Amino acid sequence: MRKIAVLSSKGGTGKTTTSINLAHGLALMGRSVLLVDSDPQNTIGIVFNVNPEKTLCDLLLKRRTSITKVREKLHIITSGGKQLVDTEVKLTKKFGKEYKLKKNLSHLEGVDYIILDCAPSINLINVNVLTYCDEVIIPIAMDFLSQIGANQILGMIDNISKSYNKNLDILGVLPVYYNEKRKISLETVSILKEFFKEKLFNTYIREDVNLKEAPSFMKTIYEYAPDSMGAQDYFKLAQEVDSR
Ligand SMILES: Nc1ncnc2c1ncn2[C@@H]1O[C@H](COP(=O)(O)OP(=O)(O)OP(=O)(O)O)[C@@H](O)[C@H]1O
Ligand SMILES: [Mg+2]
Repeated sequence: MRKIAVLSSKGGTGKTTTSINLAHGLALMGRSVLLVDSDPQNTIGIVFNVNPEKTLCDLLLKRRTSITKVREKLHIITSGGKQLVDTEVKLTKKFGKEYKLKKNLSHLEGVDYIILDCAPSINLINVNVLTYCDEVIIPIAMDFLSQIGANQILGMIDNISKSYNKNLDILGVLPVYYNEKRKISLETVSILKEFFKEKLFNTYIREDVNLKEAPSFMKTIYEYAPDSMGAQDYFKLAQEVDSR
């Protein structure tokens, strides 16, 4: 079972788009996937149009949750929306607060991949996610500010691996909103290559308006625009992740 967090400290860097379309890509390849939303924005529940009784909040505080089938081979745990913010506050008073997710998911079996979509912050929920996961995907948009966000996440990963989880490793850094016609894309990728070396994915996710439109139709990119660049790129990413 591979446990992968999709994380960056900056907002709007394609984390949720990556989580959803990587998860569905892996499911289409025949892998069994559990997608967990750990962001109070609750986007994953909205996109898959489900509102289960129990959420990540129940898992963290009461050790029980609803796992909902949304597609063939793809199940989700929703975040609980705003309730997750209160849950985080309650969690801070608990003993072993960093290990709740790890402990309460320890019995989980029969899943090839757990993909966790994170909120763009450095909070206790994300500490729980990183304490539980073995691998992290860091999507980076093609601009300078995103590079700063990546550095903050590297610092956080370093801290967590020293304090709570020595198994934690970067699976890959993923260029998103890539546009080969723009100088800033070429420059950013070249800096990322130099800095991250083999940790940079061979797959780049290109800018594609279909990726923006798909969620409002409650579809993944493979359902909304199967021949689009977005569908090609995310399926290629799923194959690259599966082979890494
Ligand atoms: N490759 C892409 N091309 C065009 N639009 C994209 C691409 N990837 C994501 N988007 C759009 O950019 C916006 C931000 O993406 P997304 O919600 O995945 O980012 P996020 O990192 O999860 O944001 P947040 O930090 O708020 O959770 C969304 O409207 C999404 O549809
Ligand atoms: Mg998001």
